[in-house]
Formats: sequence, C-alpha cells, structure tokens
Amino acid sequence: MKNKDFKGKHFITLQDWRKEEIDHALDLAGKLKKKYYDWKPHRMLRDKTLFMMFFEQSTRTRNSMEAGMTQLGGHAHDLTPDKMQLSHGESAKDTAMVLSRMGHGIACRNCFYGIGNKYLNELADNSRIPIMSLQDDLYHPMQGLADLMTIQEYFGKDLKDIKIAISWAYATSHAKPLSVPLSQILLFPRYGMDVTVAAPKEFPLLKNIVDTAQNNAKENGGKLTFVDDMDAGFEDADIVIPKNWGGFGNYIFDEYNANEAECMKEMKANLEKHKSWICDERRMGLAKKGVKYMHALPADRGNEVTPGVIDSPAAIIYDEAENRLHTAKAIMGLTM
Ligand code: CP
Repeated sequence: MKNKDFKGKHFITLQDWRKEEIDHALDLAGKLKKKYYDWKPHRMLRDKTLFMMFFEQSTRTRNSMEAGMTQLGGHAHDLTPDKMQLSHGESAKDTAMVLSRMGHGIACRNCFYGIGNKYLNELADNSRIPIMSLQDDLYHPMQGLADLMTIQEYFGKDLKDIKIAISWAYATSHAKPLSVPLSQILLFPRYGMDVTVAAPKEFPLLKNIVDTAQNNAKENGGKLTFVDDMDAGFEDADIVIPKNWGGFGNYIFDEYNANEAECMKEMKANLEKHKSWICDERRMGLAKKGVKYMHALPADRGNEVTPGVIDSPAAIIYDEAENRLHTAKAIMGLTM
C-alpha cells in the first residue's frame, strides 16, 4: 500500500478499514514517532487546514490532533458549537459543504446517544474532504488505534492468544461512553487476541456491535467471551483495561433520548450496586505475572482503580496517551 491510497478516506470506525490499511497506519505512526523523538521534520501536511468540532470536552484527543497538525506543518481550528452557527441549528450538511471548501480535513467529537455516529456520517455524506471521528456514541477509532499501537510495542506484532480483559469498573466522575470498549472488542479479535469482557448485567454492550465483534473473532482466529464477574475477567490476563461505561446499552436510543432523566436515575441506582468493581492490587494478582494495566483516561482514581495500580510499573497509560499523538498524525497524514 502507498500513503496516497488513503487520500480522502473517512475515519469514522476502524471496522471500515481493512487490516492491511490499519497495519499501514500503525507502521506510519511508528515512523512518525521516531522522527518526533529524533527531532526530524516531518511536514506531511504543510499549509493544510483541519477543522476540529468538539461537542464535548477533551484533553488527549484535542491536543493530540492540534499538536499533531502543527508538527505535520499545517494548522488546526479548535471549534466548539458556541463558536459556530451549530448553536443556531445549522445542519451537518451545510457545515460539511462549507468547511470542505475551505480546508483539507474535518474532525468531530459528538457523543450524544443516538445522534453522534449519525451526525458524523451526515458530515461524511456531504464532505469532499475526509471526516475523522474524534469519538461518537458508538466508536472511538483514534483511541482504538493508539491502544493497538501500545499493545504491539509491549507484546510484539503477533498478538495471537494475548489475553486481554476489558472490564467495567465503578466510577463517580460521569457515566462514561460505550465507544471505547465497543471499539476495542471490534478491533482486538481481528488481531487474534483472546478478549474477555467482564461487566455487571446492568451494563451491557450493544448487541449488534457485539455480534459484529464475534464475527471478527471468528474470521480472524481471535476469541471474545463475556463474564459478569471482574475476578473471572482478570484471571490469567496479559493486559487489563478496567474502565467505567454507562448502562446506555440497556436503552433503545430514541427511548433513551425521550426519557433521559428516568434512564439516568436508573443507571445511577444500578451503578451504586457495583462499587466493588475496582481494579486493585488483589485483582492484578489474579492476572499473569507482568500484566499491563491500560486505560484511555481520564481515570477515576479511587473508584475505577487504586493509586497502587495506576501509579505502579504495570500501568502503561502514559505510553497509551502519548501514542494518541503518533496515531492521530498517521491518520491525518494519510487521509488529508
Ligand atoms: N481518551 C480520550 O479520548 O481522552 P479525552 O476525552 O481527553 O480526549
């Protein structure tokens, strides 16, 4: 494959990218990482413009994209609805039509349930430049790619039978999106990994995406298993990824939007039943010796994870966060 083969390609879910395309992006991310450390110029996007639209807050995604654009020789506009006519109801179509005549890429984070992914696809349907997801209600492909890069750095390119536990965890900070675990269960089995998802029954993932992920596992020699016990999920794992997600999978999205207050009340009550779902030293002891702890961040210290784990040598969270920069640069460099 050549870099030019990717020009104009949208990046909304990694499911739309073939494995060889993902491998090419990871290869480029590795090269860009080396250039970054060697302080070698790598201005793949000289004089190009990226429009970033954030409907929600962000630390890693915003800064990896903006710093990435600067390092690639271009410029990123950091936009939020209050800075745009979105706040007066301008449509996704008109926004995409206009911005795509002024620059070279549009990136968007819209995590509203039942809305976000549709919004990104509407942008894509009306854009003549690539649309990149910065996370929606279903997918977080930038995070998935950085996670995979980090795992390969620690475990090598051949990840067959690497055992990975994706576990729900208690948190009080906010009901976190489903898009991170959904992206991970879709992606990791494509690389032959043995994935176990541990979650209380009140916090399911979305059935249609789970079905696709099972299919990915079957086609690529991976495994995908579900348990409702955090200890069982951790047993013998090479990598653990304990993270909160909300009980949104319980609700049909339209109904969720119609009864948001009711659903939030029910989710809060369900959440309080599972305070014991924390990643602590005892549970890390159930995993393999040398187990790695990952988290997309921000983490809820003291609820999702103990300081003794997140601040231990097992944690590779800052490598994972840093790789958001290198992978974001690869995706922008290829598609824009
Ligand atoms: N992991 C992640 O997407 O972080 P931000 O919400 O800070 O962008």
